[in-house]
Amino acid sequence: MRYLVAANWKMNKTVAETLEYLEIFLPKVEDINVVDIMIAPSFTALASASLKLEHSNVKLGAQNMYYMDKGAFTGEISPLMLTELEVDYVIIGHSERRHIFGEKDDLINKKMISAVEHGIRPILCVGETLEERELGKTLNVVERQIRTGLAGIEKDLIYIDIAYEPVWAIGTGVNATPQQAQEVHRFIRSLLNEISKGNDEKTRILYGGSVNDKNAKELIKEPNVDGFLVGTASLDPNKFFNIITEVLEV
Ligand code: 13P
Repeated sequence: MRYLVAANWKMNKTVAETLEYLEIFLPKVEDINVVDIMIAPSFTALASASLKLEHSNVKLGAQNMYYMDKGAFTGEISPLMLTELEVDYVIIGHSERRHIFGEKDDLINKKMISAVEHGIRPILCVGETLEERELGKTLNVVERQIRTGLAGIEKDLIYIDIAYEPVWAIGTGVNATPQQAQEVHRFIRSLLNEISKGNDEKTRILYGGSVNDKNAKELIKEPNVDGFLVGTASLDPNKFFNIITEVLEV
């Protein structure tokens, strides 16, 4: 399986800063062709980033989208607007969307279906809060998020990636240990296997949550950890490149 190392820049970097970053980053990675690399900049930077990435080996991602093609949905972004910019991936159901903006499983499911229908590869984000972990509910929460997120597109799993991002590890500097990640990733793999009737061999299970160039090596060694979704550390082209290097060495 080809690993995926993806950058989620969240609400960071202007257009100018995005282009500056890519100027530094693209030459560093131009010869890397054994792992997939993706960057999800802000919406306002997507068009410029798309042009810049056109002849590169770095894929373009969006951080969110609405599920309808067009209409009276003030402030939303449609899948057609993304495909026009040749966006390859879209992050769906990120924990910040769920917890700050109140996105629920059924909305996330509609977005997942729409992304697959439009040929944009969705990364479905799942993960428990600290409270849920302490109550021993981690696997229940992840199972619910995956089953509802993938409802109706179980046969399309080869066009989908999953990111396990424990909420308590996001932006905190406290990553899941390799053992904690492995326990959940193994569970997700068996769940995917069941719901896709074994047709999940291309579905990568990424880990996200305080990944950096120090802990990437240990995490990527775990079976069923098929790449990373990186926030803070991806904002620095050198750190993001170092993380990719660790993945290359596995
Ligand atoms: P951090 O790497 O900043 O913890 O963010 C992870 C994340 O939310 C990626 O989607």
